[in-house]
Amino acid sequence: MSESSPGKISNVLNETRVFPPSEAFAKNAAIGSMAAYEALYAESLADTEGFWEKQAKEHLHWFEPFHKTLEWDEPFAKWFVGGKTNVSYNCLDAHVLAGRGQRVALYWEGEPAGDRRTITYADLLRDVSLFANGLKKLGIKKGDRVSIYMPMVPELAVAMLACARIGAIHSVIFGGFSAEAIADRNNDAKAKLLITSDGGWRRGKALALKATADEALAKSPTVEHCIVLNRLNNNPPMVECRDIWWHDLISDVPADCPAEPLDSEDSLFILYTSGSTGKPKGIRHTTAGYNLYAKRTFEWVFDHRAEDIFWCTADCGWITGHSYIVYGPMSAGATQVMYEGAPNWPEEDRFWEIIERYKVSILYTAPTAIRAFIKWGDHHVDKHDLSSLRLLGSVGEGINPEAWMWYYEKIGGGRCPIVDTWWQTETGGIMMSPLPGAIPCKPGSCTRPLPGIIPRVLDDSLAEVGTNHGGMLCIEKPWPGMLRGIWGDDARYQDQYWKLVPHMYLTGDNARQDEDGYFWIMGRIDDVINVSGHRLSTIEVESALVSHPAVAEAAAVGRPDEIKGQAIAVFVTLKNHEPTDAMRDALKKHVRKEIGALAVPDDVRFTSSLPKTRSGKIMRRLLRDIAAGKEGTGDTSTLEDYSVLVRLRNDDES
Ligand code: PRX
Repeated sequence: MSESSPGKISNVLNETRVFPPSEAFAKNAAIGSMAAYEALYAESLADTEGFWEKQAKEHLHWFEPFHKTLEWDEPFAKWFVGGKTNVSYNCLDAHVLAGRGQRVALYWEGEPAGDRRTITYADLLRDVSLFANGLKKLGIKKGDRVSIYMPMVPELAVAMLACARIGAIHSVIFGGFSAEAIADRNNDAKAKLLITSDGGWRRGKALALKATADEALAKSPTVEHCIVLNRLNNNPPMVECRDIWWHDLISDVPADCPAEPLDSEDSLFILYTSGSTGKPKGIRHTTAGYNLYAKRTFEWVFDHRAEDIFWCTADCGWITGHSYIVYGPMSAGATQVMYEGAPNWPEEDRFWEIIERYKVSILYTAPTAIRAFIKWGDHHVDKHDLSSLRLLGSVGEGINPEAWMWYYEKIGGGRCPIVDTWWQTETGGIMMSPLPGAIPCKPGSCTRPLPGIIPRVLDDSLAEVGTNHGGMLCIEKPWPGMLRGIWGDDARYQDQYWKLVPHMYLTGDNARQDEDGYFWIMGRIDDVINVSGHRLSTIEVESALVSHPAVAEAAAVGRPDEIKGQAIAVFVTLKNHEPTDAMRDALKKHVRKEIGALAVPDDVRFTSSLPKTRSGKIMRRLLRDIAAGKEGTGDTSTLEDYSVLVRLRNDDES
């Protein structure tokens, strides 16, 4: 197959730096050498079901044992068939019963100065039990859907765990979503209850969550009740019979609420994620397989130890918050920091201040945040002692090698490995990542698969593309954390993930594997740019731009071009530099030097910010429309800041 075939993507970025873990890190790590990783991986492939069976028996509590590890009726998986367990039991009771009730589960920090709480596992078990009894009092039972629309307060985790305790299925809706988005999700799930708060803090402003919830509830006929947490004391109007204060609900319920033994395959949660069409997809995860996968991947990837202070900066409204704030770390009995607010409030050093205060040892954040920190300047970092950090993580998008290097040197002091974790809402947990004591890092690569995961890179004819060629990333076998379907839409589930490539899970991402077997994610399949028959991945062009000292952030998209098929249009945010023609030329020259003439952008447009989803991903789809001079027709409901789009369309920034 030639380079110009649509199945192949040219690999143009040549990142050769390699960072092995230090001897000291490797010595103390649970998996401390490449040989140990290879042995674990080989064991997981030799008998994948046997591997997961052993993991499940050792790492979860079972009220009743399972009798079959996997029932695979492609593409529908059932893991640990016949077993009964409870995720909230595994996250809470297991630790309290083992005498670890006094361990701190959460150091919570609100956005306003001095707003802090320390919550032990025993406290959390008490709060979850009370609230679970409150849910029962409102008539919530196993299988009912409960929407949760809250700020990042401990009660958000309490509400999720209380649902899990009684078998209600939660659907967490990120606190930044609009009334329309909440109503869509309530209606799709036929939610019976909405749990919200009178508000939360963000960048010094009180967000009126209850007002938005009220607007959504006017269009959510299935929702019978609304529980309201008093976070701000701002006395929102309460609708009689429908609304009830959290504190009133639990004022007269018993403190004890035994965890209900639930079937391994009972649904644990639905989490809506944006699809390529406008309608959001309710990704459905179930009990035992998800719980095991979140727990073990947390322990493997973060090399977790009892003395660690773990901080994942995601919001519980995303899968990262579900798997690596609530279910993974809590199953592992971790001590965590949870922060309510913005990274730049009151100043741009808030994260570093928090790390210093709580002596955070593991930080897990997103490339979009890292690029913002770089733009804000090193002096914010220099004010704080970050020597407690021993491991860093990245999630959500590819991390550009320049951002990786800054994170490694400036935040990690050159001593902390970086786990670049590739996964998706659908996969439930991390699929590829360095194991930090074992696998040397390469900036921009998520390196190798975790145990039991077999990634394949295929071209359009479904043949393996071979070393250093890009293609469609697929996963060969079912794994315990995989989605079980799209809520209420089996056909869409089959169509989207299992049709194009028979017998494999289609991730929707492009990737390549290098000569060391390392994987490099090249962006979403739709994001590929095809210039003169060469398929380029957006991340490579963007990484080349970000490696220029003046560039903070960049997005590359294709636009139609009569001669070349597609031309490359890039949108660039500068760090305190003037957007001049000279800068435009300098950037073109820079890309020519980094990648070659093939990738030199045809259009360079400067912008003060890029359109992003609320979880921080660049919305290239919208930029494609702008680059092509088209009025966008796609869904913009997940866009964080609509004004960016208006400014870009009006062209007043380029
Ligand atoms: O394109 C990949 C990108 O984010 C997608 C999944 O998004 P979401 O379901 O919102 O989950 C985000 C948190 C796991 C993937 O298909 N992505 C995620 N992590 C990485 C990444 N791309 C490159 N490198 C990563 N580490």
